Amino acid sequence: MKTRSLKGMILLAAALLVTFVSNAQNRLIVNADQGKTTISRHIYGHFAEHLGRNIYGGIWVGPNSDIPNEDGYRKDVMQALIDLEIPNLRWPGGCFADEYHWTDGIGDPADRPKMINTHWGGVTEDNSFGTHEFMNFAKKIGTEPYITGNVGSGSVEEMSKWIEYINFDGVSPMADLRRRNGQEEPWNIKYWGVGNESWGCGGNMTPEYYANEYRRYATYARDYGGAKLYKIAGGANNWDYNWTEVLMKNIPLWMMDGLSLHYYTIAGSWENKKSATQFDKETYLETLRKAAFIDELITRHGTIMDKYDPEKRIGMIIDEWGTWFQVEPGTNPGFLYQQNTMRDAHVAAISLNIFNKHADRVHMANLAQTVNVLQAIILTNETDMILTPTYHVFDLYKPHKDATLLPHHLVSEEVSFGKEKMEALNVSTSKSDDGTVNISIANIHPDKKIDLDVVLRGIEAKNVSAEFVTAPAIDAYNTFEKKDVVKKAAFRDFKLNKDSLKISVPANSVLMVRVK
Ligand code: AHR
Repeated sequence: MKTRSLKGMILLAAALLVTFVSNAQNRLIVNADQGKTTISRHIYGHFAEHLGRNIYGGIWVGPNSDIPNEDGYRKDVMQALIDLEIPNLRWPGGCFADEYHWTDGIGDPADRPKMINTHWGGVTEDNSFGTHEFMNFAKKIGTEPYITGNVGSGSVEEMSKWIEYINFDGVSPMADLRRRNGQEEPWNIKYWGVGNESWGCGGNMTPEYYANEYRRYATYARDYGGAKLYKIAGGANNWDYNWTEVLMKNIPLWMMDGLSLHYYTIAGSWENKKSATQFDKETYLETLRKAAFIDELITRHGTIMDKYDPEKRIGMIIDEWGTWFQVEPGTNPGFLYQQNTMRDAHVAAISLNIFNKHADRVHMANLAQTVNVLQAIILTNETDMILTPTYHVFDLYKPHKDATLLPHHLVSEEVSFGKEKMEALNVSTSKSDDGTVNISIANIHPDKKIDLDVVLRGIEAKNVSAEFVTAPAIDAYNTFEKKDVVKKAAFRDFKLNKDSLKISVPANSVLMVRVK
């Protein structure tokens, strides 16, 4: 008897210990009463360059096309972007911006000169999608335009006149030209980029040279009437911390509002990128580890910015980010068309969680790119469209937009394959204006469901609702034949008990849990 009860007690103690350890292993404490920083909705921005079938065929087919369109814009794509409520759209590049001459893209389309898109496939650009077409599109989809001007092959005068054309209300040569082209009112654009990747495709400049150029261009980028420009200087690539240092030191702070940063997640190396759809678990983790590296980049570039701008007035604008894999076999290598799997969904979730975390400095971000290019949210063929796993993550994350960032503490188990190792869970927490707490969780483990104990501090939780994006495998993706392999769905595998919540986070999934 005695021995049995001793055994029983030992077993009970062991069971308790196992429970304790497993709870301690995957545990999230959310401090719902401690938020200070707003997560700008502009972190959820997008980017549409004249590249491949992004603008032409993706967004714009022209009013005479057989593809269902409204004033030349594809109806299916337009509706998907309206549904996603995208806060801003960057245009016309990218590298294209620094060889784009805006006057070629106004007036009667039949009279617009053609040019070669030297960066992207060497194709002929007919300029049928220009300033008016872009601004009208932004209006139709309810987004804020973000235009990048040409520093690399343009002139101060050219950029200055473009701004006058777009924003000046009075009588002037450019405002009159705009009116003759059918637009009476100025568009009052706010976001303006002064060049793109000036260290590379935008002119191969040194940081010292670009800083001087920026000062000249920004001087003549005028504020007209009620339109105060938010000027964004072309920032660093990856870990070029010297670029950030030189710009912050040499550009007077009052002359800029944002400084950009570009970072792409690559599997393999830049010269030898791996496939978008065929990868093993080690490569999968390699990709996600590289995506998570942006945390360090933001911290280190941010530390330099803090030195000159401790108030954090100047936004870090991550206006190009996302995955860059091999193009789909058989497609034009210059068009950067790649498929988008559940791995991309995790890259999006991790990146957006990190941007939220740094919301005090990261004021805007733009995924590269919108349709048919790199980590696209939409893929099209001649007549049809699919939403990618990345689209669904952006859809899932809507509650974080303009919410207050909440501090949290996460303890997560690890997942490892080959040489790669990461925490299996990746989280962001925020509070909406109506008091709802939003918890986004990525479980990157390909095959293991994780039981997560959530402690909710500072909120009397009564209702929980959740949605998730998941797929049968990490390399699953949507095709024109099977459009819903990866999709968003309701999620119910959680249990609320006073101030604690238990969530069974499915393997290979991204969740948005909302607690009120
Ligand atoms: O997004 C594709 C290209 O990547 C952009 O044109 C350029 O800015 C970057 O190098």
